Amino acid sequence: METPTMKPDTVLILDFGSQYTHLITRRIRSLNVFSLVLSGTSSLKQISSHNPRVVILSGGPHSVHAPDAPSFPEGFVEWAEGNGVHVLGICYGLQLIVQRLGGVVVEGESKEYGKMEIEVKGGESEIFGKGRVGEKQVVWMSHGDEALKLPDGFEVVAQSAQGAVAALENRGRRIYGLQYHPEVTHSPKGMETLKHFLFDVCGVSADWKMEDLMEEEIKVINNTVAADEHVICALSGGVDSTVAATLVHKAIGDRLHCIFVDNGLLRYKEQERVMDTFERDLHLPVTCVDASEQFLSQLKGVVDPETKRKIIGKEFINIFDQFAHELEKKHGKKPAFLVQGTLYPDVIESCPPPGTDRTHSHTIKSHHNVGGLPKDMKLKLIEPLKLLFKDEVRELGRILNVPVGFLKRHPFPGPGLAVRVLGDVTQGNALEVLRQVDEIFIQSIRDAGLYDSIWQAFAVFLPVRSVGVQGDKRTHSHVVALRAVTSQDGMTADWFNFEHKFLDDVSRKICNSVQGVNRVVQDITSKPPSTIEWE
Ligand code: XMP
Repeated sequence: METPTMKPDTVLILDFGSQYTHLITRRIRSLNVFSLVLSGTSSLKQISSHNPRVVILSGGPHSVHAPDAPSFPEGFVEWAEGNGVHVLGICYGLQLIVQRLGGVVVEGESKEYGKMEIEVKGGESEIFGKGRVGEKQVVWMSHGDEALKLPDGFEVVAQSAQGAVAALENRGRRIYGLQYHPEVTHSPKGMETLKHFLFDVCGVSADWKMEDLMEEEIKVINNTVAADEHVICALSGGVDSTVAATLVHKAIGDRLHCIFVDNGLLRYKEQERVMDTFERDLHLPVTCVDASEQFLSQLKGVVDPETKRKIIGKEFINIFDQFAHELEKKHGKKPAFLVQGTLYPDVIESCPPPGTDRTHSHTIKSHHNVGGLPKDMKLKLIEPLKLLFKDEVRELGRILNVPVGFLKRHPFPGPGLAVRVLGDVTQGNALEVLRQVDEIFIQSIRDAGLYDSIWQAFAVFLPVRSVGVQGDKRTHSHVVALRAVTSQDGMTADWFNFEHKFLDDVSRKICNSVQGVNRVVQDITSKPPSTIEWE
């Protein structure tokens, strides 16, 4: 699918592997300026095709002297100068500018890591603004190499307390460099500098709005999908697929066919709740397929988590295939497109920065999708969220009138409760017990007003029994675990610290109302070393 035509005021970031690259993008977008990340080794054609107003060269873990040090393409500086494009190098980006334009970068005598003080020099500095000479700022540095000699025409406009170049510029050529990271909160005046640079120095206008992106995406979808073509979308009940489907539905109406599969591994009343939202609030055309028996019979006796995932993925594929054939019979045409709720971090992750050992594949984490697609379906992908971060998807969802409560739902894994009943999911009434325990836990979290402070909360069914005493009788019943974590993106996580009273109430409620459970434990491990899910 083609990328929407960008507005002129795009800030392009060439990524040389810094851990802060995504942060720069987020910070710039928060100023209502559209920003995109490209690999630092992109060709000039790729760079210029985005028609950027500003190009930022990111930091990175390399030394410019390393034999495989990544760099911008030949002709980049000439192209930028010829087209009035401003260039800002940050950290490694600054060193690249110095080295590629004829200056000298050396290994610093003392490395600068962490908080440092810098002082603004030179009366005419554009990047800091006039009248700032002598001003001192605390900034966040993280570099080993330093600029020893600047290329002709460049001027030092800030220096670190240790005497290293902290900022430089060549105003005539519109090329600037900051040796520190203005995007991190440890550089308290960093955002002010970045804002001043973008708006006052580069003249960028803050006109990027989610509504514009939505309108552009709708245009792209309409240009991509011909008037007689049909599109399918598998809804998981999660935020991303729901927002993606709602957007595509706005563009092509009922030529979008959504499917929601009840695989027998859903939470308490999930099918009714989700279908209700789709129909009542979103008016999405959704076919609900109850395939519980099909899934559960395939999973009988299976204990290995990865085998469970594979079986579930394969069954989903069979169901999609069948759905596509039914649509073909009905409309005389096979659906040509599939909507996926791929997000920007997935896209960036599949085009990793140079110098990392990761390969430039375009596989989206299979983990986070419903198992892949049947080969003979030959569906082309529509990924209308592929330029957005998670919180931006929520904002788009709000514009599309997706209920806020739905947008704030905790993530739920594709294989569902299969990875929360440890071992054989068909053992006894494990799924039923788990549904009840999970519902009590989640409802208590909602009642305590904690739902939105938690990234994900759920219960886990353990395939062990323990001895208890209930109503003066000895019991030998199940143990369940409660897990709640905080996280930014699910990659790392910390366990949520409930008050003792809350835990006491929940534990009591579970043992009193769920038959077959006589012990409740809480998971107090972070990720790493654990993962969020237990399987
Ligand atoms: P882990 O357990 O890997 O989970 O720390 C990180 C995030 O991913 C979700 N998760 C999955 N999502 N299919 C999915 O669609 C899966 O197989 C899967 N396994 C884990 C998990 O719920 C958490 O949000």
